[in-house]
Amino acid sequence: MTTTNTNSDNNSITAVEIGKPRGGPNVKTLRKDKWWLQPLFTSIGLGLFVIYGIWAAFRNGNYFAGAMGRNYLSPFYSPCVTHGCQYTTVPIVGSWYNISPAIIILIFPMGFRMSCYYYRKAYYRSFWFSPPACAVSEPHKKYSGESKFPLILNNIHRYFWYAAVVFGVVLTVDAVNAFRFPNNQIGMGLGTVVLVINAVLIWLYTLSCHSCRHLTGGKLNLFSKAPIRLWFWKKVSKINPHHQLFAWLSLIWIAFTDFYVYMVASNMIHDPRFF
Ligand code: FES
Repeated sequence: MTTTNTNSDNNSITAVEIGKPRGGPNVKTLRKDKWWLQPLFTSIGLGLFVIYGIWAAFRNGNYFAGAMGRNYLSPFYSPCVTHGCQYTTVPIVGSWYNISPAIIILIFPMGFRMSCYYYRKAYYRSFWFSPPACAVSEPHKKYSGESKFPLILNNIHRYFWYAAVVFGVVLTVDAVNAFRFPNNQIGMGLGTVVLVINAVLIWLYTLSCHSCRHLTGGKLNLFSKAPIRLWFWKKVSKINPHHQLFAWLSLIWIAFTDFYVYMVASNMIHDPRFF
């Protein structure tokens, strides 16, 4: 059903088709701003991370800087769970496994990010144009949302959150270990700072998660009967509005942390020690 409407900007007639974008079937959008910039930058950013992540995961070397006198382990390889690890955290995978240890554990952080509500919005818009932006039509004829395979799997996000908490603890232990230097000395190098920032950003991203907010404050009728949950919910609610920012900062920094450890471990740079 097509009808017409008056555009208040220029008094011209604008076709409106029920269920279709304003402007008629051949008009993708009436937006005049640069709406395509955000999906463009998002796809470039996520695309670069995926390329870097594949290289880092299959590198299978120079992920621990122990030979350079630094206790730095790349977050891409932590926890290191195979017997062939350069720095074994928990050796639960036998010597039969001889490809990169990163591939085993990256399933969990990747699953957490792929099913994250923010990243869903980001890659649905940037890669699938579903839709590319608010008030912009999408090219797909059918829309089943997240009610069918494979996107229905994104509902598993809340369970990935539990795994993400474990990874947060592991990366925090790695950051603390980065203060350990040879001969049982305590010290701090630039890499220590890099790993500490990485752990902080991972926690900010994990705790600002919408599932975390639901876990702390959801399904409650009376907050007065759950004061501890109320306390956590208030804290989580303060950082939750910045989840998108933490998603990007933690993504960029985790890649940078891996690259920094790689550069130190491969002797490309010397890691300055502050004390
Ligand atoms: S919503 Fe983004 S990590 Fe949960």
